[in-house]
Amino acid sequence: MAREGNQDTTAAWRFHNTTKYVGPAGLRDYADPEILMGEPPHRVQAMGEQDPAIEPLPYKIYTTLAPIPLPRDFPTSDLPALDAIAATGEIQISSAVPDVNSIARLCLRSNGLLKRWRSPSGREIEFRAAGCTGARYHLELYLVCGELLGLEPGVYQYAAHDHSLRQLRAGDYRAAVVAATGQEPAIAAAPLIAVWTSTFWRNAWRYQARAYRHVYWDTATALANLLAVAADARLPARVVLGFADDEINALLDVDGEREAAVSLVALGRSNDAPPDLPEIRPLGLTTLPLSEREIDFPEIGAMHAASSLTSGAEASAWRTGAFVPSVPSPVEAPIPLQLLDAAAAPTDSIDTVIERRRSNRHYAEETPVSFAALSTMLIASLKGTAMDCLIPDAPPLFTPYLIVNNVAGLSPGAYAVHPEQQTLELLRAGEMRDTASRLACDQDYAGIAHVNAYALTDLAPVLEHFGNRGYRVAQLEAALFGAKLQLAAHALGLGAVGSTSFDDEVTAHFSPHAAGKSFMFIAVFGARRRPSTAEVAEKSRFLQGQAQADA
Ligand SMILES: Cc1cc2nc3c(=O)[nH]c(=O)nc-3n(C[C@H](O)[C@H](O)[C@H](O)COP(=O)(O)O)c2cc1C
Repeated sequence: MAREGNQDTTAAWRFHNTTKYVGPAGLRDYADPEILMGEPPHRVQAMGEQDPAIEPLPYKIYTTLAPIPLPRDFPTSDLPALDAIAATGEIQISSAVPDVNSIARLCLRSNGLLKRWRSPSGREIEFRAAGCTGARYHLELYLVCGELLGLEPGVYQYAAHDHSLRQLRAGDYRAAVVAATGQEPAIAAAPLIAVWTSTFWRNAWRYQARAYRHVYWDTATALANLLAVAADARLPARVVLGFADDEINALLDVDGEREAAVSLVALGRSNDAPPDLPEIRPLGLTTLPLSEREIDFPEIGAMHAASSLTSGAEASAWRTGAFVPSVPSPVEAPIPLQLLDAAAAPTDSIDTVIERRRSNRHYAEETPVSFAALSTMLIASLKGTAMDCLIPDAPPLFTPYLIVNNVAGLSPGAYAVHPEQQTLELLRAGEMRDTASRLACDQDYAGIAHVNAYALTDLAPVLEHFGNRGYRVAQLEAALFGAKLQLAAHALGLGAVGSTSFDDEVTAHFSPHAAGKSFMFIAVFGARRRPSTAEVAEKSRFLQGQAQADA
């Protein structure tokens, strides 16, 4: 995939268009929201069959490897959660080497199982640290490390179901990652490298081909937790999306088709260069079957293959070169964001926030959210994330837009956010609760919540610069904003939930400002209210019947 101009980006456009959600005109029926996917003449029912007989296991469980148990109690710093969430990952520090306690904490707080809960109807529900589309947990976390305090060098899988590590390879294999990334500097200096994979079927069982968008939405949701915990532990962190896919997959012994590496994170910094690369042999390890049979969604494989890189040299060339997106011009009457008074800012740690976070769909409709709370959340989540392919401090690839339903001092209406100026621009004033629900695929909580925040990206220049792999970058970067926004809401004692949207209706709603941009991500948030007993029971039905209720 060449970097110089005139790239063939048809695969990304084809995938994006065939996975757009479309709502039937005028229909608004919460009980049975009909969602279609794709473009004529190839429109399908978005939610697919979801045959319970083949519902996939949400864990990868190796059958022959012994667990290496991890601790569960960790010291935290006194960094307030909001500061941890706002951290970019860049830390000026010459050496920062995690030990087994930090590793356990990073794993548990990003991909771990926090608790099991029995619903009134008797069904056991598992809560993971980070949210995930439809609770269709499809991400695995692997670690590649040198010698660390409490952990020998190796390649490990984090087993979320029993909070332990499984050692896949003994010895220091970091050089394989350094080579696959084309000597990416943060990876080359990292004592620990996290590798996230997605097993597509575990999400596609419900969402079909759109699962490939969720790969990046859900990875970003888990990454927001991981990066905030790394900041609290004073570990530099950089997300790396430029890597030779087959080389990383071979290191993890995953096939790259059912399960594939989707993101790397360099964690910590040391001067100890990894030793020469040991030979990488296939492992042939057995794992529990996910389901009796699996359905293949060829659009996922096609998009993943079309956005893959084949060598470290290609990865290095891919990330080299500046890309600065053009930003909308400043407006005449900007509304400056106003940070919360430091004395009023909460001091809970990021661990406390992650432990208490649950997706919230019940909002105190009449109680306004303060403008300072909204401003603080936006500023924290727009500081950006250190990423191999993005320029630090450059504007984001996406433009943030808001539907404001109830924020003190702000007219209800549609707004554009200008991250550079830290201002809002009122695009259109007016009551938009019904529209907010409609855009969120006829989900009523979006109309009741105080704010709906969208990220829309002008994909054409992004794909022109980054090729088809730019689609991964655009989805992940936008979702990181949305995920940080949700964590920040929880840090402020508000509630939040990720959501989904009828793609083109979102663009139309924010146009002409958003004309030509594509829907990437939406986060919904506001002041929580305690649900009634009936609503709690409904919630348990909701979780059971997520197939209908939760898009
Ligand atoms: C990217 C993303 C999109 C989501 N979309 C929706 C949605 O459209 N509707 C909804 O009710 N919940 C949505 N959720 C919430 C998930 O259903 C929720 O995270 C999952 O059930 C796990 O529950 P928890 O977040 O309380 O841990 C979304 C979550 C994420 C991370």
